[in-house]
Amino acid sequence: MGTRKIPITRPTLPDSGRIRSRVEEILRSGQLTNGKYVKRFENSFARLFGIKYTVALSSCTDGLTWVLKYLPPGEVILPCFTFSATGHAVVLAGHRPVFADCDRSTFNLDPAAAEEKITENTRAILATYIYGNPPDITTLRQIARRHRLKLVFDAAHAVGAKHRGIYAGNFGWAEVFSLTPTKQLCCGEGGMVATADKRLVNYLRLARDYGNPGNYNTRFVGSNIRMEEFNAILGLEGLKHIREFVRNRNRLAQVYMSELGDIKGLSFPEVAKYDLCAYKDFTILVNSKQAPCNRNQLQQALDKKNIESRRYFDPPLHRHKAYIDLGYGGRDGLENSDYISRNCLSLPMYSHLLPSDVRRIAHIIRREFSPG
Ligand SMILES: Cc1ncc(COP(=O)(O)O)c(C=O)c1O
Repeated sequence: MGTRKIPITRPTLPDSGRIRSRVEEILRSGQLTNGKYVKRFENSFARLFGIKYTVALSSCTDGLTWVLKYLPPGEVILPCFTFSATGHAVVLAGHRPVFADCDRSTFNLDPAAAEEKITENTRAILATYIYGNPPDITTLRQIARRHRLKLVFDAAHAVGAKHRGIYAGNFGWAEVFSLTPTKQLCCGEGGMVATADKRLVNYLRLARDYGNPGNYNTRFVGSNIRMEEFNAILGLEGLKHIREFVRNRNRLAQVYMSELGDIKGLSFPEVAKYDLCAYKDFTILVNSKQAPCNRNQLQQALDKKNIESRRYFDPPLHRHKAYIDLGYGGRDGLENSDYISRNCLSLPMYSHLLPSDVRRIAHIIRREFSPG
């Protein structure tokens, strides 16, 4: 008892029988790319989440990069407490990343900190739904409107999340989802851009296909960032269950919180009452001044019991070698992000994780917090 490994995440995938006929069809026809399933997936995704236009791509990183490439070179304000790809997309698109601090209670980009960084060179604010939790969208939209800036969301974690009853994908000029195996909707690899801007859609459809409008006379230097038909087949099947997946994740989060909520020195990122977090991850914060152990000791204790955990996101972007080498790192005034990075720990979370496994994990954590 107690030695079975619990991974940090696992994709929840369909039984092979449910996709066999479509997979056989694309193998028979040879239409492995540029076919009907990517189009169907784009349409179903848009319909389910009430989004005007969607463009499927090879990854969220590519989606963010090409959305940002659409803008003239300048500065993009983003959180430093996020995954590397958020910042990489800014740099790959030819912009200068300007890091702003996060809110200590939600771990999401602090809108006031972002507004302070606006200059005449700012082109966009790029906010992440950290762990699938909507940031302060209302305030971010007000700031973007006031300063005439584009508002882009890194919605990598946000498939199925809601803000005030409306699905993620409907708030930014563009929002980009990730569909890899660590996400709640898994295509293998893949990304989806959501937007209401038809011109951006036209640009992205060309960008994913070398800039080729169909006559091989390319309009601009694009790339090959197409989604494959197999990925779309997986995505179409996953979409049928995504609401159930997000419901399950919320139930599991409730189990974690009810089992751990009374422990001194342990807290969780806050989710606004009117929002729905998609819980791509479930993360705790260990305040080592109040707790008998620190985050690293807790991770070691879980590791000994064969329970995987991750330090999402440590280090924060302004402390990555890549950003320091480029001259974008090491800034002051990012104290909340530094604090959260040092003390956060993501625990196992996936759509088919068992509540009994969550209780087992909680039991181990509780023991670490009650020495003697
Ligand atoms: C916040 C965030 N943004 C972007 C990405 C990149 O997504 P992809 O792997 O689809 O490029 C990830 C991947 O985990 C992520 O966590």
